[in-house]
Amino acid sequence: MKRLSLLRITDCELRVNEDYAMKTTLVTDIALLRHAIAQARRSGRTIGLVPTMGALHAGHLSLIKAARAETDFVVVSIFVNPTQFGPKEDFNRYPRPLERDLELCGQAGADLVFHPQPEVMYPSDYRTFVEVTGLQDVLCGASRPGHFRGVATVVLKLLNLVQPDRAYFGQKDAQQVRIVQQMVRDLNVPVEIRVCPIVREADGLALSSRNEYLEAEERRQATVLHRALTKAQRRIEAGEHDAAVVRQVMVEQIASVPGAVLDYAAVVDADSLQALDRIDAERPVLLALAVRFGSTRLIDNLLIR
Ligand code: PAJ
Repeated sequence: MKRLSLLRITDCELRVNEDYAMKTTLVTDIALLRHAIAQARRSGRTIGLVPTMGALHAGHLSLIKAARAETDFVVVSIFVNPTQFGPKEDFNRYPRPLERDLELCGQAGADLVFHPQPEVMYPSDYRTFVEVTGLQDVLCGASRPGHFRGVATVVLKLLNLVQPDRAYFGQKDAQQVRIVQQMVRDLNVPVEIRVCPIVREADGLALSSRNEYLEAEERRQATVLHRALTKAQRRIEAGEHDAAVVRQVMVEQIASVPGAVLDYAAVVDADSLQALDRIDAERPVLLALAVRFGSTRLIDNLLIR
């Protein structure tokens, strides 16, 4: 039988399950975070950071498990970052199941969860933002202006707060990964960025906190993203070099599903994220898609090396 107890955590108390594989500490303010990190460092432990916005699923958990396997002290941040949402986006609606998230973090082996309030990260006199020019305005950046400025800013803040040896990101957000890698390189941030593979449902749909928004019919239709990507991949493997032809394969697949509205389908250089004319064997290619189902926007991608 599972026993419940009260664990004292900074400024609030939460019911936590004592059967956790490991005890996870919840920290909501910066001084306590720095204190806990300093303690871990003093005891000679390496630190892993997994930045998230919560509503955790098996994709997030794969990152936490990777961090658990490779570092000694695993920090998971849960912060729905307001600066990466546009004014008409789903910031208010974004799911925030904190208690369940904490339980999952514990089970996956997180040592500490950092869950600040927005004003802790962005006090009223906040003024500094990070822009990764060239990479931030294409693909998702074109339809979500300011999104990657918010992502880069919050990720740099988290890296500065936690100062991890390694930070873990999912290939699911391929453009985010490229932007974070570039930022870390350009700003000489002393961290190793680890990229974990996309975790999918059995029918191919990439796990996403936003899948929760889908109606049953939309959920069935959403498998078209992965189908379109794999069909395009097969075309490349069969010897197609013309990027426009490969892109058209994806466009037609998406168009074949009545409820699916294409935001973009792109065949880009995996490094520069610039559209390709020709696909050649030497350079990695990223196939990337964003598709709307009603008000829900889903993304997926496939990296071809
Ligand atoms: P979020 O969407 O919560 O994702 C947190 C991390 O989980 C990201 O690195 C994302 O790529 C990874 N992830 C999500 N779905 C995945 C899947 N199906 N398979 C593997 N990894 C997956 O991405 C963000 O939050 C935010 O932009 C953040 C980086 C936390 C900055 O606010």
